[in-house]
Amino acid sequence: MTVLVGYSSKYGATEGIAERIAATLRAAGLEADARPLATVGDPGAYDAFVIGAAAYMGSWRKDATRFVRRHRDLLAARAVWLFSSGPLGTDHTDSEGRDMLVESQPKQFAEFAESIEPRNVQVFSGAMDLSKLRGRDRLVSKIPAVEKILPDGDFRDWPAIDAWAAGIARDLASAPTGT
Ligand SMILES: Cc1cc2nc3c(=O)[nH]c(=O)nc-3n(C[C@H](O)[C@H](O)[C@H](O)COP(=O)(O)O)c2cc1C
Repeated sequence: MTVLVGYSSKYGATEGIAERIAATLRAAGLEADARPLATVGDPGAYDAFVIGAAAYMGSWRKDATRFVRRHRDLLAARAVWLFSSGPLGTDHTDSEGRDMLVESQPKQFAEFAESIEPRNVQVFSGAMDLSKLRGRDRLVSKIPAVEKILPDGDFRDWPAIDAWAAGIARDLASAPTGT
């Protein structure tokens, strides 16, 4: 059983989550490769997939979206988990009391729920070093309304990430292939 933990990360936060998930899967006895999706030519050799990307302006990163669309038939026939890294800060609810992790699902997840029927999708809090932002991200981050929801820091919830990955390992042990 070989699992691809494929990711698209702009500044490194999602890469760190993917590496951690792969390490947890390996500790559970699975073969797991954490790789940038851009380097995965033929995913056909993998039995199961964990695919993650950062969310920017409500959308999953483009190369992750493209990967899922391009390999839709393969992914629909195999076991797949999706994750997104995004919300920053320590608040778990927004100003209207809604769950931030639910509200931060990238808009593409609705499409993928239908097209590939992943076993589970998850949003994790992200990380951002605002001093490293480049180009348009830097400009957008300075808009006052955006600045408020982009605190600087590492908010990744490692216990939640570990628990999710351990659940994937258990699920693969009891139902190795298909959806
Ligand atoms: C300009 C900008 C826009 C962002 N938009 C969103 C968003 O719409 N939803 C979200 O959950 N997080 C958003 N974030 C936070 C990032 O997704 C988060 O920091 C993520 O962990 C970064 O991952 P990466 O380093 O792998 O790219 C945004 C960050 C920046 C700088």
